[in-house]
Parts: sequence; structure tokens; C-alpha cells
Amino acid sequence: MRVQHNVSLKKYNTFGIDVKATNFVEATSIFSLKHILDLPLSDYFLIGGGSNMLLTKDITDKLVIHVNITGIEIIKKDDNFIWITAQAGENWHNFVIWCIQRGFGGLENMSLIPGNVGTAPIQNIGAYGKELKDNFVSCTALEIATQKTKTFTKNECQFGYRNSIFKNDLKGQYIITSVTFKLTRNNHDISIAYGAIEAELAKKKITSPNIKQVSNAVITIRKSKLPDPNELGNSGSFFKNPIVSKNTFDKFITKFPEAPSYVVSDTKIKIPAGWLIDQAGFKGKRFGDAGVHKNQALVLVNYGNATGQEIWDLAMLIQNTVYEKFGIMISPEVNVY
Ligand code: EPU
Repeated sequence: MRVQHNVSLKKYNTFGIDVKATNFVEATSIFSLKHILDLPLSDYFLIGGGSNMLLTKDITDKLVIHVNITGIEIIKKDDNFIWITAQAGENWHNFVIWCIQRGFGGLENMSLIPGNVGTAPIQNIGAYGKELKDNFVSCTALEIATQKTKTFTKNECQFGYRNSIFKNDLKGQYIITSVTFKLTRNNHDISIAYGAIEAELAKKKITSPNIKQVSNAVITIRKSKLPDPNELGNSGSFFKNPIVSKNTFDKFITKFPEAPSYVVSDTKIKIPAGWLIDQAGFKGKRFGDAGVHKNQALVLVNYGNATGQEIWDLAMLIQNTVYEKFGIMISPEVNVY
């Protein structure tokens, strides 16, 4: 454990933004994490996979901690289910593939989501009709103020759409160190009705897919729509899909009857932000090295040397334009610093 100075964070954030951390340290175990919390620097900035953040300036006033604790362990099994604990620093997609290779089902729809296991619960990652919470049992986390370990059950995490207690009441108070999942060993709950999965499988003439085939279909779809952060800096969906009241929706849909939408409850409707941004004319647009992806308007991209501020300016231009055109406010999904 060694504090380094003036470290470029370019390779630690999938947007590839080149800001510097005045103080940077890597935590490879809970033991080293506790040591780090003992240092005389008391304000922290945590980085896991760096896949859900936009860095707009150097981090001078906080100790940047790269949480890199790894390991995957089977902790329990019965005839039908298996309980697996993965440490926070495991790459999410590698973990999903590890499970699929061993025939453990549940995470296949979330293949290829960038980021690490430890940050996945913070925003309850999800894709193609499945969310992390569907297979989540608990997570352990270190309380920064006391250095005590606490286990959070699913209920305690208060998961919602791209949301959890770690983004709200407990923001900045805990460091998630591991997550435990309950997966199926047989009778997998194959879920292919959402999005383009069914069509992708039909192309391959697969009618009753196994978990590997679902995963492969998801990987194909994601690769066709979403840029690979190793090739083009991005942070997945930059905005959340707005959830509006029935009243707002009724006014909106009268003006834009062709808009796609999903019913969330009797009083709430979700409208795809990607559609709003696309219709506002931003899809594929480029402003210097900051841009909107050509296949998915919800994804902002860094063509190479965009600054975080340039990406943020573009995000705000999009937000304002969408609001002026549709009367609907979209808000960022990524954490902005
Ligand atoms: N759409 C457009 N133009 C676009 C993009 C989308 O018209 O440029 C329309 C589509 O035609 C479709 C609708 O918007 O009718 C929804 O699009 P899509 O199915 O691609 O899903 P999304 O709502 O844009 C969400 C998640 C993604 C996840 C996909 C698939 C959010 C914020 N995003 O996107 O998650 O992969 O569903 O389940 O909920 C992420 O969080 O980083 C992410 C990529």
C-alpha cells in the first residue's frame, strides 16, 4: 500500500478522461483498505471499474482509492441453487462469464456491462429485463467512519431503477467490499422477451436457448449498439430514462404519438431518453472530441482528447434542448465530479 502522487486517472475511467489525482492509492485487500482509512487524509474518492463516472477536474482535495480486491468463492449450494461471493474489484463481465461457464444462471442478460462487482449494487445495474437485485443476496461494506464491516441484505439496499441506498441516505459512507449472489444450477429463469434478444436468437434459429446462448445474444446486441470503452471512451447510458407522471405523459403523447414508452405503475410512465435525444437531433453529432454515439443516442463518447468539462457541456446542451422540445427533464445516470 503506497500513496502515489499526481497520477493520471485516464486508465481508471472508461470515458478515458485525463485528469490527475494528487493522492492515489490502490486497495487490494480489506486489510490494506483499513490501513488506508487510517492515513491522515480523511476525504475519499472511490474508483472501482470507473465505468459510471465523468471526471471534469483534477482531484486535489481527496484521497483517490482504487478498490481492487479480487476473488470469487462458492459459499453454499443445494440441488437447485448456488450462492457465490465475488470481491468488489472483480470485473463484472468476467464474473458473469465465470458463472455461465460453470452453468450458473441468472446474470446472463447482464453480460458485457462495464464496471466492477463492487460498484454494481450502487446503481443496481440492469439490462434486457434483468437487474442486479434479481439475484442479489447481500453485500458487505466497510463503514468509513468506524471501519466496521456491515452486511446489507437486499431489503436494506433499497434497490430501485438504477438506484440504491448507497446513492442516497448512505452516499459516501460505505465502501462495498464484496457481493453475494444466488444463482440457479438448473431450471434457469431464461428471460428473452425484452428488447432485441428474441430477434437475435431467432436469427440463429434458437428457440429454447441456454444461458450461454442468451449471453452470446446479449453480447452481440450490445456490441452492435454500444461502443467498447477500450476503443471509444464512454460511460454506457449517460442519462436515466425519465419516469413521468400520467398527467405529463398524456400531454407529451398527444404531441408525440409515435414515442415509445413503458408503463411503470398506474401513475408513472418511463420514456426512453435515447428516443428523446435522438429526436432532438443529437444522435451521431460530434462537437470537437465530445460526441453522441451513432447507434445509441443515450451514450456520450470521447473521441480521444475530450475534457470532462466538454462532455459535461454537451450533456447540458442535450438536457436543455430536450426540455425545450419535449417539456421533459432528463438527468444524468453517471456520477459527475
Ligand atoms: N431509441 C431511439 N434512439 C436511440 C436510442 C434508443 O429511438 O438512439 C429508442 C429505441 O428505439 C427504443 C427505446 O428508445 O424504442 C429504448 O432503447 P433501448 O432498448 O436501446 O434501451 P434504452 O432504454 O436506451 C436501457 C438501459 C441500458 C440497457 C438497455 C437494454 C437505461 C438508462 N439504459 O437503454 O443500460 O443496456 O436498456 O436493456 O436504463 C447503461 O445503463 O449504461 C445501459 C447501457
